[in-house]
Amino acid sequence: MGDAKKLFIKTYGCQMNVYDSERMAEALGGAGYAEVGSAAEADMILLNTCHIREKAAEKVYSELGRLRALKAERPDLKIGVAGCVAQAEGAEILRRAPVVDLVVGPQSYHRLPAMAEAAARGERALDTDFPEEDKFDHLAARPKARRAPSAFLTVQEGCDKFCAFCVVPYTRGAEVSRPAARILAEARDLVERGVREITLLGQNVNAYHGHAGGLAGLVRALAGIDGLARIRYTTSHPNDMDDALIAAHGDCEKLMPYLHLPVQSGSDRVLKAMNRKHTAAQYLRLVERIRAARPDIVMSGDFITGFPGETEEDFRATLELVEAVNYGMCYSFKYSPRPGTPAAERAQVPEAEKDDRLQRLQALLTAQQRACQESMVGREVSVLFEKPGRLAGQMGGKSDYLHAVHVHAPGAQPGDIARVRVTGSAANSLAGELV
Ligand code: 5AD
Ligand code: SF4
Repeated sequence: MGDAKKLFIKTYGCQMNVYDSERMAEALGGAGYAEVGSAAEADMILLNTCHIREKAAEKVYSELGRLRALKAERPDLKIGVAGCVAQAEGAEILRRAPVVDLVVGPQSYHRLPAMAEAAARGERALDTDFPEEDKFDHLAARPKARRAPSAFLTVQEGCDKFCAFCVVPYTRGAEVSRPAARILAEARDLVERGVREITLLGQNVNAYHGHAGGLAGLVRALAGIDGLARIRYTTSHPNDMDDALIAAHGDCEKLMPYLHLPVQSGSDRVLKAMNRKHTAAQYLRLVERIRAARPDIVMSGDFITGFPGETEEDFRATLELVEAVNYGMCYSFKYSPRPGTPAAERAQVPEAEKDDRLQRLQALLTAQQRACQESMVGREVSVLFEKPGRLAGQMGGKSDYLHAVHVHAPGAQPGDIARVRVTGSAANSLAGELV
């Protein structure tokens, strides 16, 4: 591979982008590119972008501005923009940033090798189609290299829910589920290459319908794969949490006791304005049913503060909901108007209030996260080792509850799963000892 061209991909945003970046690297691998760890040595730089919040496009343009200097030094350097900003901005990127050679949307990156060829000929290429064909059918088989113990696997993409704040239905398109047989084949292949844990990805993963039994059916089918020890999935919508999936949390041992189930707000008025199509009480009832099936499950969520029309009273309802659920982990954001979405057109909450509410919410969420971690101390968990820690003989990995855990485990290998007693809790991780 001495004359392989060097590819550097910078990934922004969600886990699906992480997965897509891997697939793009593999697709270009077939076209003679080998991935490297820095932009400085690359022959091609791809920015795999995110459009979910604040000034995403502006950040990409300023990154492209910085890359201009690099390209001035090395005119043969090719620069591409992929992902959701590519989808949203399209040809505008080629117009505003002459440094860019190719723009490719999330549904057409299987065409990257041809686009890279065009770029090599000095052409500029744009592809932001939602093609008829399924990109996964057109991507080369994944290379047989050994893999890290934990992997992402996209099973569903896009979203038909149209929450009033969200760009995803526009950037990722309509909901599409991959056929279960393909997913199972990809999962078996991952397991053969050392993967022990698979996180199923979808913008609306529990709306998955590529298996007759829905996501629960897929999870149970995956659980039949020997050597696959753990299954997770993200991100879910409360309205798609069906009985079968809740039941799977109760009796499918490989399905891990952690669930990311965003609610966004605790106020019925705001939920309605967000077009969430459920109330706070319905969400709380759902969490109760999930906990009845799996009492020790760790709940996680997403919240937005300062959605248009949110009053102090609405915000207090969010704090109350958070108190009622008691989350183990949460992400919270100030509302950020996204071009083309309904809520962007509405009267906005002043920035200072968004800020103030975000800080109050985060104080509560951080306290709950600490309490959840501390409640683990003294308990036995299983830990999937991922990589050696900083100290000699130490391994780092994740518990069933997705906490990072450091353990003194001389001789242990990445991919081993050990029973561990948690002995301490630090800011963002736990310490434990082998039992
Ligand atoms: N402003 C702020 N947060 C947003 N999210 C999605 N769109 C916006 C927006 N316009 C948050 C939601 C979602 C998470 C992925 O990002 O909480 O669940
Ligand atoms: Fe960003 Fe959402 Fe696109 Fe993921 S799906 S890259 S979070 S905009």
